[in-house]
Amino acid sequence: MLTVISHPLITHKLTQMRRKETGTKDFRETLDEIAGLMAYEITRDLPLKTVNIDTPICKTSTFELAMDIVLVPVLRAGLGMVDGITNLIPTAKVGHIGLYRDHNTLQPMTYYAKFPSNLPDAVVMVLDPMLATGGSASSAIKQVKKAGARIIKLVCIVGAPEGVKKIESEHPDVSIYISALDEKLNESGYIVPGLGDAGDRLFGTK
Ligand code: PRP
Ligand code: URA
Repeated sequence: MLTVISHPLITHKLTQMRRKETGTKDFRETLDEIAGLMAYEITRDLPLKTVNIDTPICKTSTFELAMDIVLVPVLRAGLGMVDGITNLIPTAKVGHIGLYRDHNTLQPMTYYAKFPSNLPDAVVMVLDPMLATGGSASSAIKQVKKAGARIIKLVCIVGAPEGVKKIESEHPDVSIYISALDEKLNESGYIVPGLGDAGDRLFGTK
């Protein structure tokens, strides 16, 4: 299921990220801000459980989150979304998946994976700003599923129709959240209009 989270603040900030003259500092800050704004919407349906507490005035019955949250950023660019979300959910644990797209074949190559042990009982958010061919996200999802994850949300900033289609067909059980559905991929597998190479722009490596 695809949800495009549309909000004027997100759209405005994404325009800043798309501008080619936006430098590393602003790109990094804005990515975190958008991730935080998206997380607010994505967590809207999280289950709550009843708890009995004492306020300074009296005993009361109220609610708190019923499930753990695990964030799994896809390295490198997914790292740029972690702080924006942990600002809202400071108890979230964080796993990591290291993947890069082979520049010739566009196939995802895994070089690292480490997850917290509560994955099977948690709401798992896989984070990557770019959903292009969908190869990296699909491989990341396969790996968290293999490690026991059952409730998975894929959180990206910009998606291409090709990538959305791939995740919908290979992982129909995964909810997909993006803040913009762009037009297409170009012949090199970049999203059009997109924002370029997210990892390079985030870390200033080009
Ligand atoms: C980018 C991006 C995604 C992937 C998306 O990473 O952050 O992980 O490409 O492309 P796909 O949907 O076609 O798989 P990249 O491979 O450039 O690695 P990097 O973040 O280490 O630069
Ligand atoms: N990865 C990126 O960083 N950007 C794209 O447009 C496609 C894949």
